[in-house]
Amino acid sequence: MINRPLRWHRRLQLALAHRLSLPFHRFFSLFPAAEVGHTEAEITNLECRHSPLAGRRAVQISDLHLDRYHPRHDRVLDTIAGLRPDWIFVTGDLLTISRGLPHLFRFLAGLRAIAPVYLTLGNHDHYSGVPADQFSELADRHKLHLLVNQAMFVPTEGGELGIVGLDDPSLHRADLACIPPRTEGRFTVLLAHAPNVLDHLDHRHAVDLVLCGHSHGGQWRVPLVHPFWLPYGCNRRSGGHHHRNGHTLYINRGLGWSMLPIRLNCKPEIVVVDWR
Ligand SMILES: [Fe+2]
Repeated sequence: MINRPLRWHRRLQLALAHRLSLPFHRFFSLFPAAEVGHTEAEITNLECRHSPLAGRRAVQISDLHLDRYHPRHDRVLDTIAGLRPDWIFVTGDLLTISRGLPHLFRFLAGLRAIAPVYLTLGNHDHYSGVPADQFSELADRHKLHLLVNQAMFVPTEGGELGIVGLDDPSLHRADLACIPPRTEGRFTVLLAHAPNVLDHLDHRHAVDLVLCGHSHGGQWRVPLVHPFWLPYGCNRRSGGHHHRNGHTLYINRGLGWSMLPIRLNCKPEIVVVDWR
């Protein structure tokens, strides 16, 4: 597990913050018209070099907070279908409240109709009250791959894609021991909800690309000013590329919202990874 268990005062602080946000989620998720800044997702293209995967494409989305299915979720599905991915990665905060489950799995079933889907859990998934076992059972039923400190391998001609899904690093649930050793021809993508995972990776970890979410890009942004709201586990990283100890992390701004349904100067994001 990451270093040490989360300290009690931090655990209390995070649980309280979640509790305070619940009435907002319950109320605003009923009114799609209350959402500001969610209409159009920005597409970010990343390029990776690995010849056994040349021509393959993955799409990453994050922080769905899908407590109620809205028309914008159909538009996201249309956009992703148009990108024709080979794999879809979803890096946690699938929902905020347990009553979102049927709405969430309607969306995830839509993703599964496009390509194989690999999911990880985020802090809000754990706080939602939905047991991890129930997420796993529903994922199995919908033929989705929920990875909780687990790895899967997809063979390709002359190599393979390794997909490692960690449990949430911001709650110190990530177990880096599940990262498999380096193997000739394998490209390993590490999916984890929170960016603090980068601070725990070193040269021994055979990871070629880390994909995270959690920050919401700050959600409310003033141009040229560092975001004034970032959740615990970002370590001051709000989005985009970050490098440390030879590892590359990309932080996705996510598709949903926390507390208030407003994204200010901070468009939702869909990340496309192309291998050359
Ligand atoms: Fe989130």
